[in-house]
Amino acid sequence: MSIPLGADGTPKRKRRVRYEGKNPRRFDEKYKELNPEKYADDIERIVKSGKTPAGMHRSICVKEILEVLDPKPGQTGLDGTLGFGGHTAELLQRIMPNGRIFAIDVDPIELKRTTARLRALGFTDKELIIRQINFAGIPKMLADAGGGFDFILADLGVSSMQLDNPARGFTFKWEGPLDLRFNPERGQPASALIKTISEKSLEKILFVNSDEPHAKTIARAIHKNCHKINTTKALADTVKEALATVVHVGSKDEITTSIRRTFQALRIEVNDEFSALEQFLRNLPICLKPDGRVAILTFHSGEDNRVAKYFQDGLESGIYSDISRDPIRPTPKECFDNPRSKSAILRWAIKNGDSSI
Ligand SMILES: C[S@@+](CC[C@H](N)C(=O)[O-])C[C@H]1O[C@@H](n2cnc3c(N)ncnc32)[C@H](O)[C@@H]1O
Repeated sequence: MSIPLGADGTPKRKRRVRYEGKNPRRFDEKYKELNPEKYADDIERIVKSGKTPAGMHRSICVKEILEVLDPKPGQTGLDGTLGFGGHTAELLQRIMPNGRIFAIDVDPIELKRTTARLRALGFTDKELIIRQINFAGIPKMLADAGGGFDFILADLGVSSMQLDNPARGFTFKWEGPLDLRFNPERGQPASALIKTISEKSLEKILFVNSDEPHAKTIARAIHKNCHKINTTKALADTVKEALATVVHVGSKDEITTSIRRTFQALRIEVNDEFSALEQFLRNLPICLKPDGRVAILTFHSGEDNRVAKYFQDGLESGIYSDISRDPIRPTPKECFDNPRSKSAILRWAIKNGDSSI
């Protein structure tokens, strides 16, 4: 790599990111938050104030997941949603010596960063094997893992790094391209999807994926304006305007909730999230060792209902010896400290040691 030199031949100083006012507001100006290793004290201050620093993800229900998965030295585990790597790092500490974690994620952008960070923390490719794979395809990892996993984790949905980066188009809080893909190198962005599907299909997506009560009104507005909707703000404004004319939608909060649900519904669609989850749930029995454990963290009813059903069916058919009877939720303290944990639901299952699968 060549280092840029100044007129006098000495290396040019890198300019600090400039921003208006006292504190950076835009994602790309938050140079401290985007370098958590370098600015640890600032990060700690931000976390203590109940916020998630830009470019970071705070892992949810860590204590509960460790209790459920009960990782032990020498075991082999799979993290189906590596994200920032918080859960993986915790699990790794408990399976040493001689343990291994296979960690996967579909997001090529964050996977690169997380890999670099975890390697810098000292995790080598002997104990931490990282691959860019969809968790629907976990059987692909079986041969390398020696035939089965002692535990499997999936923490579904979107990470804070993805959510907070306006360029990824996951949130209506910031202006950005309406993309919403975990892997921007595959499939089509949400801005393209809305231009190719019928009003009826849009309504179904909103209703089925997010239980949106105003699905019909929103679908009509999006369909009518689809050629103008290319950004997160354009979509949010379209939903807002459509609902402003609906008499019984009075409150600002209700409109904001509908905008959030619209983004969620489109995200689920462009990433084919329900199919991936169902394939993952179907594959679990062949991927777990006898008495192996699985924990899944979900964030809305569409995900949780599927997990609960597959676990219940597996219990009844004898694939699982035990499952969580009730959903486990983050403690009130965790919800207060990290508001993004509020909607999380954790479920677990243990593979029957006598199962022939
Ligand atoms: C909530 S984050 C995981 C955070 C992680 N547990 C941590 O502690 O940092 C969810 C991650 O799952 C990934 N993801 C979503 N669907 C996936 C799929 N079908 N296969 C693999 N990764 C997926 C997303 O790209 C995202 O990075």
